[in-house]
Amino acid sequence: MARRADQDTFDAVDAFVESTLFGLPDPELDAAQADADAAGLPEIQVTPPQGRLLGILCRAVGAKRILEFGTLAGYSTIVMARTLPEDGLLTTLEYDARRAKVAWANIERAGLADMVDLRVGAALETIPLLASEGCGPFDFVFIDADKENTPAYFAWALDRTRPGGLIFADNVIRGGSIADPGDDPAAHAQRAFHEYLAEEPRVNATTIQTVGAKGYDGFVLAVVNR
Ligand code: SAH
Ligand code: DHB
Ligand code: MG
Repeated sequence: MARRADQDTFDAVDAFVESTLFGLPDPELDAAQADADAAGLPEIQVTPPQGRLLGILCRAVGAKRILEFGTLAGYSTIVMARTLPEDGLLTTLEYDARRAKVAWANIERAGLADMVDLRVGAALETIPLLASEGCGPFDFVFIDADKENTPAYFAWALDRTRPGGLIFADNVIRGGSIADPGDDPAAHAQRAFHEYLAEEPRVNATTIQTVGAKGYDGFVLAVVNR
């Protein structure tokens, strides 16, 4: 049966998935989202099913070193950091000090403060310091900050991701704007990102369109070649 789906359907399906696969209480994650809402932060975190995909991918590569661009209130940070072994480390980069403060309280309450290194500032300014400290190599990288800089973040992260590691870039589709970018600089950046990936022999990448409670979007997933 062919059927046209709309946002109400996407919401209903995500609600069903959350009521089944996410049936168990998760007080720290619920509290993290409640405090993000109370602080008036935008609701642009990954959905629970998307977050679980990030966690599954981290576990699949046995991630011990994770890098995240764009912390917001720490929702995806918590989901990924929970997959780390005791000696693991997740480095997360956030431009906005107020958001970082909310995130840090959420990360502490989740018992993950020892495993998370939160750096406040524009990522293009904080990554040189990370490099000088000899960060990485990373097993998993989640790019989810300002979308115009996704290609720059990817190129930097690629030099510091181990063979077999994964790089996940969120929000590359944005309602289909990648196919019809008009004068949207973020959409043009995603097109340039794809053209760059096509020429980059060190990775094998694909793009997956998604629907759900956060609408129509998608991500790039790249594996670093051995
Ligand atoms: N990964 C989060 C959501 C991140 S939203 C989650 O899924 O839970 C994107 C975040 O990137 C915002 O909090 C925004 O403040 C931050 N950001 C925007 N520009 C940035 C920059 N230049 N450097 C670092 N972070 C930036
Ligand atoms: C925005 C950022 C995100 O990471 C996202 O998933 C959705 C929207 C934004 O900046 O608008
Ligand atoms: Mg995102």
